[in-house]
Amino acid sequence: MTHDLLKGKNGIIFGALDEKSLAWKTAEKAHAEGAKIILTNAPVALRMGKIEELAEKCETEVIPADATDMDDLENLFSKSTEILGGKIDFVLHSVGMSPNVRKNFPYTDLSYPNFMKTLDISALSLHKLLQAAFKLDAISEWGSVVALTYIAAQRTMPGYRDMADAKAVLESIVRSFGYYYGREKNVRINTISQSPTLTTAGSGIKGFNSFYHYSKAVAPLGNASGDSCADYCISLFSDYTRMVTMQNLFHDGGFSFTLSSDEVLAKFDS
Ligand SMILES: NC(=O)c1ccc[n+]([C@@H]2O[C@H](COP(=O)([O-])OP(=O)(O)OC[C@H]3O[C@@H](n4cnc5c(N)ncnc54)[C@H](O)[C@@H]3O)[C@@H](O)[C@H]2O)c1
Repeated sequence: MTHDLLKGKNGIIFGALDEKSLAWKTAEKAHAEGAKIILTNAPVALRMGKIEELAEKCETEVIPADATDMDDLENLFSKSTEILGGKIDFVLHSVGMSPNVRKNFPYTDLSYPNFMKTLDISALSLHKLLQAAFKLDAISEWGSVVALTYIAAQRTMPGYRDMADAKAVLESIVRSFGYYYGREKNVRINTISQSPTLTTAGSGIKGFNSFYHYSKAVAPLGNASGDSCADYCISLFSDYTRMVTMQNLFHDGGFSFTLSSDEVLAKFDS
């Protein structure tokens, strides 16, 4: 069921790679809720992924942009406003990658060039896109920017390695830029801290499968699915959340506030 929640709004969605991507599901729902959207991803991902298929479904086009490249980002915002015929009302930052995680470097023996890439792609890219939009005045008053994060930014989870540090920076950028964009343009910026979800980025993390089942057993509502994450994004893009900004919003079935569950404790009963 749809409610025309985003009717008349323009959006940019970063990070749809395939149908498992959190961005893919959000793009489909934004389109169904009446928004006009532009899709974007890194040029290399465009060659590997299936984004053109999504563009067809959403009756739109793809503008390639490396989220770490200021020229690409400025081009993305100016072309998008031109194509959509107005300023941008919402942005989804669904971008993350750690070469250290990919190449299995232990946290105590990281490659620093890799670490810099992790930070640039997974955290600074949010600052960069906000700075590009701010300079071009490309986001409408009361616009909404949402970035996706994970609880390992705040609680230690070994296999997440330098992505944990990148997510901590990402969450901090939301608070810092949220102040300036809020004061100047009434633009709101938030992170959604999503449950483990079976996507390309998610499944690349060592121990992901066991952690997926662990958090499902701990959270009173179980893990939040990718589909429900997309619903939450839509609500944050809509006019019903206009006074929510600079927040890290847990979307995890209650996991973040549950120490343990009967199901998990039963495994240690002797
Ligand atoms: N899957 C999970 O368990 C989970 C949980 C919490 C948060 N998240 C976060 O959700 C976001 C989306 O991840 P996903 O799980 O949908 O996986 P995904 O692999 O489908 O999406 C990650 C996207 O980042 C894009 N990307 C990488 N480098 C880029 C660059 N330089 N420029 C532009 N785009 C680039 C990839 O092409 C890909 O589309 C990430 O920030 C991830 O950390 C995922």
